[in-house]
Amino acid sequence: MPVVPMQQILKHAFDNRYGVGAFNIVDWVTMDAVLYAAAETKSPVIVQVSVKTVKVMGARLIRVMFEEMAGRVPVPATLHLDHCPDRKVIEECVAAGWNSVLFDASKLTYEDNMAQTKEVVQFAHQHGVAVEGELEAVKGVEDGIGDEYGGAVVALDKAVAFIRETGIDSFAPAIGTAHGLYKGKPKINYQRVSEIMEAAPVPLVVHGGTGLSEETFHELIRRGTPKINISTQLKITLADSYRTYLEEHPTEYDPLKLLGAVKKKLVAQVESFMRIFGSEGHAA
Ligand code: 13P
Repeated sequence: MPVVPMQQILKHAFDNRYGVGAFNIVDWVTMDAVLYAAAETKSPVIVQVSVKTVKVMGARLIRVMFEEMAGRVPVPATLHLDHCPDRKVIEECVAAGWNSVLFDASKLTYEDNMAQTKEVVQFAHQHGVAVEGELEAVKGVEDGIGDEYGGAVVALDKAVAFIRETGIDSFAPAIGTAHGLYKGKPKINYQRVSEIMEAAPVPLVVHGGTGLSEETFHELIRRGTPKINISTQLKITLADSYRTYLEEHPTEYDPLKLLGAVKKKLVAQVESFMRIFGSEGHAA
């Protein structure tokens, strides 16, 4: 299936209250596994990439690889740039034909974030590219971006004004989730999701998906968060499956067997998230 705009995937999931996984890929194997899992479960899917990975692989190579691999699976797929504070990288990805970007100006003041996000939205929309906005930095570090404290929660009326005035396509609110592994049970601010929904119903994004319970996902999705980000769990599965295969096959030197075993573990992991999020069957 050809690549589809982010807006299309988000709108259908938002209107029908299911979640679409945005899985951070780091290479060919992870991208292949995410798309394969989507095809197996007939799920729409968001292939998400960190700035760190873009810097290693290049925006064009990722886009070309995505277009080719997504074209082989019969499900809607879209390519999204994760937390990006650097407008040059955003311009590079837009020029390379990506579908969506998260302009992360959460380190700026409210006024500067608002002004710059407006400019990014105007530029991106001219090219048919969706923009995710962020106001309150999500707690935790994601591929070198962010810190363990996160940002202060902004008053609801200011968050609503940010959503309305910038024209963003989706919003990543601070709702108690965090990047990386949770140290204790996260305290999720469901109320915040409902309040934003009531005042400015835009698709919301759950950051820090790794480690959240099924009940948490379901409650958030029901209230209005169609995009669910998963990164850490995939990195763990990736590293563990390489390690396990090599330990179990100390004299096997066929790289394709190794990569095949790694892909199998990743596919199982991604499929299980897709079932929990309720995206299974929505690409049928
Ligand atoms: P995790 O690393 O906690 O899965 O979060 C991913 C994320 O939010 C990417 O922006």
